[in-house]
Amino acid sequence: MTKGIVSGVVANMVTLRVDGPVLQGEICYITTGGDRLMAEVIKVVGQDVYVQVFESTRGLKVGAEAEFTGHMLEIQLGPGMLSHNYDGLQNDLDKMEGVFLKRGEYTEALDGERLWDFEPLVKEGDKVQASDWLGKVEENHQPLKIMAPFQMKGTATVKSIVAKGQYKIHDTIAVLTDEQGNDIKVDMVQHWPVKFAMTNYRENPRPFKLLETGVRTIDTFNPIVEGGTGFIPGPFGTGKTVLQHAISKQAEADIVIIAACGERANEVVEIFTEFPELVDPHTGRKLMERTIIIANTSNMPVAAREASVYTAMTMAEYYRSMGLRVLLMADSTSRWAQALREMSNRMEELPGPDAFPMDLGALISNFYGRAGYVYLNNGEVGSVTFLGTVSPAGGNLKEPVTENTKKVARCFYALEQDRADKKRYPAVNPIDSYSKYLEYPEFAEYIKEHINEEWIPKVLALKTRMQRGKEIAEQINILGDDGVPVEYHVTFWKSEVIDYVILQQDAFDEVDAVTPLARQEEILNLVTRICDKEDYKFDTFLQVIDYFKKMINLCKQMNYSLYQSEQYYDYVSQVENLLNS
Ligand SMILES: Nc1ncnc2c1ncn2[C@@H]1O[C@H](COP(=O)(O)OP(=O)(O)OP(=O)(O)O)[C@@H](O)[C@H]1O
Ligand SMILES: [Mg+2]
Repeated sequence: MTKGIVSGVVANMVTLRVDGPVLQGEICYITTGGDRLMAEVIKVVGQDVYVQVFESTRGLKVGAEAEFTGHMLEIQLGPGMLSHNYDGLQNDLDKMEGVFLKRGEYTEALDGERLWDFEPLVKEGDKVQASDWLGKVEENHQPLKIMAPFQMKGTATVKSIVAKGQYKIHDTIAVLTDEQGNDIKVDMVQHWPVKFAMTNYRENPRPFKLLETGVRTIDTFNPIVEGGTGFIPGPFGTGKTVLQHAISKQAEADIVIIAACGERANEVVEIFTEFPELVDPHTGRKLMERTIIIANTSNMPVAAREASVYTAMTMAEYYRSMGLRVLLMADSTSRWAQALREMSNRMEELPGPDAFPMDLGALISNFYGRAGYVYLNNGEVGSVTFLGTVSPAGGNLKEPVTENTKKVARCFYALEQDRADKKRYPAVNPIDSYSKYLEYPEFAEYIKEHINEEWIPKVLALKTRMQRGKEIAEQINILGDDGVPVEYHVTFWKSEVIDYVILQQDAFDEVDAVTPLARQEEILNLVTRICDKEDYKFDTFLQVIDYFKKMINLCKQMNYSLYQSEQYYDYVSQVENLLNS
């Protein structure tokens, strides 16, 4: 193996003089004062190699020795990851004291001793390719697949497969014979370099299946789909984290992976303490059973932060290859981009806009491109849905991370300071936000079949009303309440009904926080009827305000009532009475 000697140290960037070949992206370990520090090669210039160290380089001296490993940053994938908390390098955070690892300490990601109930899915003589399902085990009620090695080339024949029974992850569960006649021993563990997209599927069509999140401003107004992408930009404190957590708690996904990337340590501790307590609204089981948290706080070195989003994505792709629906969330991708910027600046690369690396756009687009709805080689489907938050400095949506993300993400949920200040939560701006999926014919077809034909036209009509309401609000602002016709007030208040009844939702109320799709449909129909009614008879704008305030209040009470409860129907009939009065 190649060895190197440290020749320079700038914070986490270290230069090494090496005695042999080195791969771009290769992992090496630098020894200092008894610690072994993990680092990744980011640039090779002849015999000089630039590496970024994943830990503090405190005390590291010129002359320290390094050993190269011959492989890139990779993680282990296997049963036993669900409900774990990892850092960006897949260290198991539960295996150490406190929230932070000591320098140079790396833990095993998977439990080698635990026994799994394995059931074979192939028999001797079967032909298999990379990623094909050889058997299954169950983890936390999720059917996990044990697959043929991801790196395998061509078609192999199953020489032997173990019988149904209990095995450990490193036990050989199958022997495959490749095209050259070599035997390949297969256990339950896969290795994958995190920066490479897994492309072990047959087809990657445009996604079209609604992913229910229970958040009305998303599902009804700007839906996201299984295998889709979206992002949530918003200034500090506008509700990015609350919204993302709501989605991760409620979304109809088999697996949820949360990459807490560079968030404040206390927020991360909050997830650790809050999540294990929560109950999955779909299954009634502990939410944490289907969740993995990858946590890198802003006090960890930047390089580890950069790795964490890739680690999370690689895990997501792994579960997708098993035919599962995975939801991946990263909070916040801005801190990831800042990590890229810091590294690029230390390497004295020519900077792009706002000193971000020149290839920031490509990095973001490649990352979002790894999400998707796929047909696996065996015809089954799997998906990785990705939602990232962006924290644009000063709320400026023209900054490079927001702009580059906007080019690739299909849903845009813009959180707005003004709405957050008015406590109109979630503060998703109803006019600027969008979901491109609403324009997909495949999606329209799906909604027609699974909900109804009028859903999308109704949603589009309400969006137009929101736009009109905003224009009129501006006119009323300028001309005064008396300066515009009474009908203008009616139009404005109809948009307020849409806002209060559909868009605003209390993430901290047990009932209002989650709205199942059937309930959203009822709300959409009701609000549409309130808005479509033309024969309101008002003499003054004060009557308009009075009437619609009453209406909004009743509808909100309805939203807070348990679905289809007596109380719920009581409010429904009060709304009907008011509507017909
Ligand atoms: N849907 C909601 N319902 C009720 N309150 C909300 C909602 N969303 C946000 N809030 C309020 O706004 C506060 C800030 O939200 P949050 O921490 O998610 O902001 P953030 O955008 O992630 O901030 P930062 O930029 O600091 O990470 C919350 O503590 C909560 O009081
Ligand atoms: Mg936050």
